[in-house]
Amino acid sequence: MCGIVGYAGSREASDVLLGALSGLEYRGYDSAGISVLTENGIDTVKSKGRLQALADRLKTHPLSGHCGIGHTRWATHGEPSDLNAHPHVTEKLSLVHNGIIENYQQIKNKLVTSGYEFVSRTDTEVAAKLIDSLYSGDPVDTIRRAQEQLEGSYAFAILFADHPGTIYATRKGSPLIAAKTETEGFIASDVPAILQYTRTYVLLEELQIAAVSADGISLFNPDGSQPVLEYRTASWTVEQAQKGGYPHFMLKEIYEQPKALRDTVHPRISDGLPSFELQDDIPEGFWKQFEAVTIVACGTAMHAGMLGKALIEKLARIPVECDIASEFRYRDPILTPRTLVLLISQSGETADTLAALRLAKERGITTLAVVNVTGSSIAREADYVIHTYAGPEIAVASTKAYSVQLSVMYLIAFKLALANRRISGEEAQNLTAGLLHAIDATEQVLTLGADIQEYIKRYQTLKDLFFLGRGLDYALSMEGSLKLKEISYIHCEAYAAGELKHGTISLITEGVPVVAVATQSALLPKMISNVKEVHSRGADILLICKDGFEVDPDVYSKCIRLPALDDLFMPVIGVLVLQLLAYHTAVLRGCDVDKPRNLAKSVTVE
Ligand code: M6R
Repeated sequence: MCGIVGYAGSREASDVLLGALSGLEYRGYDSAGISVLTENGIDTVKSKGRLQALADRLKTHPLSGHCGIGHTRWATHGEPSDLNAHPHVTEKLSLVHNGIIENYQQIKNKLVTSGYEFVSRTDTEVAAKLIDSLYSGDPVDTIRRAQEQLEGSYAFAILFADHPGTIYATRKGSPLIAAKTETEGFIASDVPAILQYTRTYVLLEELQIAAVSADGISLFNPDGSQPVLEYRTASWTVEQAQKGGYPHFMLKEIYEQPKALRDTVHPRISDGLPSFELQDDIPEGFWKQFEAVTIVACGTAMHAGMLGKALIEKLARIPVECDIASEFRYRDPILTPRTLVLLISQSGETADTLAALRLAKERGITTLAVVNVTGSSIAREADYVIHTYAGPEIAVASTKAYSVQLSVMYLIAFKLALANRRISGEEAQNLTAGLLHAIDATEQVLTLGADIQEYIKRYQTLKDLFFLGRGLDYALSMEGSLKLKEISYIHCEAYAAGELKHGTISLITEGVPVVAVATQSALLPKMISNVKEVHSRGADILLICKDGFEVDPDVYSKCIRLPALDDLFMPVIGVLVLQLLAYHTAVLRGCDVDKPRNLAKSVTVE
């Protein structure tokens, strides 16, 4: 999604802004631009396409000055183009924007009546011209008055031509930070933008306005008061946010999973049992109060939630709903005072998940968030938070974040099962040991890459593929399918294996590829029957199963065998094969693995 940066200091602003924008490239974008306050006023260069296109344009149109703002745009209103790219500029100011202004048309109509002309198709140009029309010479007062008219979500960074050396910024519903060194000030929508320059930053609260210059950061609350600044130190390092010798961030992140899992799980084990008391400040008694759980998330995080549902229901015997956040928030969900709303998000900024959290809180329901990014909106607003320790996830396709989310689902399921006396302490210890054993086994599964690479050569020009699974393998297949489709552009669907014959089997003809995930001993005979059904209609089957399973070799073209863990833990290792399958297929097909088309890392619009 869009990225914002701002700089005030003594260096050439355009160099710093380009560097900062490169730290946000992973978020996904389709155009970029920079404004700098030069000797001759605000000057702007924008370009459709990647940052390199902007950098090339800056060679022929250099911007010299020490204060500026920059943006990477992921198109919402208006196609990706030079014209629609940010910054949007008036005589008085230049503005970059993340989010969506929902009432932009009404404001635009008024501005047109009073003589403003518009050149782009963006809601952002409306915000820029609204602030221009209200400008009193006092940026903070003007931004405040603009806030009164703007509906929707926004993070803005603004350069005013008559206030050289200062960037103004504000936010509502979109994240923004202000950062500094001794002699420089920064604005950014996300920590990786500033990591190469500083690790000291403050988070802007909703509707706060920041004035950032080389001298430091000033914040203004909506009531005009100035809060004491609470500085944070980014725990992520520059190295973590770099490829470290891997050809793609996605591959690096796949291989980081054993460590990410250990980092997340180990601090939450005490005496062989799961415990969230010390690490997350969640008291032991917390887990006893719930008679239902509703898990809310989007995309890959939602798939982790689907497995969470299966685990909690199986072990704790508490009914669990798992809902897509964008559906949950508009379906008037049934939530009782004894429902736990469990939100899962890597970024902690996904607009729909954040809105779902707010809805639950408005109804007085207890919320617990599983979040990877410290200080993100969801992490700050939830009643309780379990931070996953995957480190920065840069590739758009989520891999290590999914694994750590899943590991927390196991721990929560064990905890709820213990609290509800569905399992004994000894059983909980055995389950916890089982999880640790599965985490150890991930190292072995990561060696299967070469085998997978060899097999998937047949997927070079593929258009469609089906995943089949039952039980936990069905939830896992949904994640495998999403991963493959989002980065390789192959149309994939995941089916509960028993459901296929109720319609979709009509699509299975000679040579149609099927990935059959069959890791559950108890469901193996049923699953193999379903595999035979598609095999006898010509499907080309890649079977992923547990070591030791006896399957007629005639029914598959290739079998990948996974270490034989207890059924319950097979998803921990099974997902790695599906991630590797997606990764190598995308590389084979020449796709932009880390930045797949149309996708953004953090989806901060509805
Ligand atoms: O940051 P979040 O975990 O809230 O993001 C949710 C989804 O947008 C995300 O998982 C998305 O589906 C990924 N591209 C999947 O790889």
